[in-house]
Amino acid sequence: MTLNIGFIGTGSLGSMLIRGFIEKEAVSPEDVYIYNRSPSKAEKLREEYSQLRVVESNREVIAHADWIFLCVKPGDFPELLAEIGSEFTEDKIIISTLLSPPLSELDRIIKGKVARIYPSITQSTGHGVALAAFNQEITENERQQITNFLNHIGTTVSVPEKLFRACGDITSCGPAFMAYMVGSLAEESQKHGVDKNLAETMAKETMLGTILLLKRHELSFEELIKQVATPGGCTAKGVNELSKVLPKAAGKVFAATEAKEKEVCAQVLSDLAK
Ligand SMILES: NC(=O)c1ccc[n+]([C@@H]2O[C@H](COP(=O)([O-])OP(=O)(O)OC[C@H]3O[C@@H](n4cnc5c(N)ncnc54)[C@H](OP(=O)(O)O)[C@@H]3O)[C@@H](O)[C@H]2O)c1
Repeated sequence: MTLNIGFIGTGSLGSMLIRGFIEKEAVSPEDVYIYNRSPSKAEKLREEYSQLRVVESNREVIAHADWIFLCVKPGDFPELLAEIGSEFTEDKIIISTLLSPPLSELDRIIKGKVARIYPSITQSTGHGVALAAFNQEITENERQQITNFLNHIGTTVSVPEKLFRACGDITSCGPAFMAYMVGSLAEESQKHGVDKNLAETMAKETMLGTILLLKRHELSFEELIKQVATPGGCTAKGVNELSKVLPKAAGKVFAATEAKEKEVCAQVLSDLAK
């Protein structure tokens, strides 16, 4: 049986998922039902895939789709729930991409099958990790089906939801953190007279080569560092400087994202309680 897939919200993430699943032939455009609050974003996708079902309301998405991806911002969730919460029936699977509410809360307010995923923008390349957690109503077979579907655009990792934050700092926020770190090297080289474009091109090419090296030779990060850093040499001196600041900075980064997630969560839960 062909599954119909629905998307509520076609902003950055919703569009990335739709494009990714269609391009990788996980689903045909005619089996995808989408709705976005401002119609232009959904229409833009239809310009790319003429068979895509752009419908007139969220209700229509739910009526047609077997699985419904929620891709709105957490702040828009309470209003969305008020609009369509009663439409979620037990034969549907709701897949939330929202940072908040957590699965435990979704499980309480939505009757039936609910999954929470934490995708990564890198999945537009077909690589990257989506974290996934499922409520008890979703059968083992359905978990596998959802995982296989998500795997078309990367790797799906099922982890207890309490680990979403610590994993998401690598998988979801990670691309920004990694870009910042490598970008800092490129910026520093400009201070020493290297042209901006050249610095950025070299940084990106080296980043790509580093990833390929790690993957092809199945190296750990430590092994790669050992291969490059001759004891007492320039790289070793540089790594030593990094070791004085980066582990501490990583701790602060994790603390900051955790605090922000708690804040978003508290706001959404308070709005839901109103
Ligand atoms: N971006 C990422 O890398 C990323 C990664 C992991 C998880 N996420 C999660 O993904 C979710 C979406 O993020 P985003 O970056 O895609 O945000 P976004 O670009 O702002 O997209 C959200 C979309 O939802 C639409 N929307 C809001 N309320 C709606 C409603 N009631 N019915 C239909 N559409 C509605 C908005 O429409 P308008 O055009 O009218 O504003 C907007 O297009 C967030 O919850 C975020 O936590 C994002």
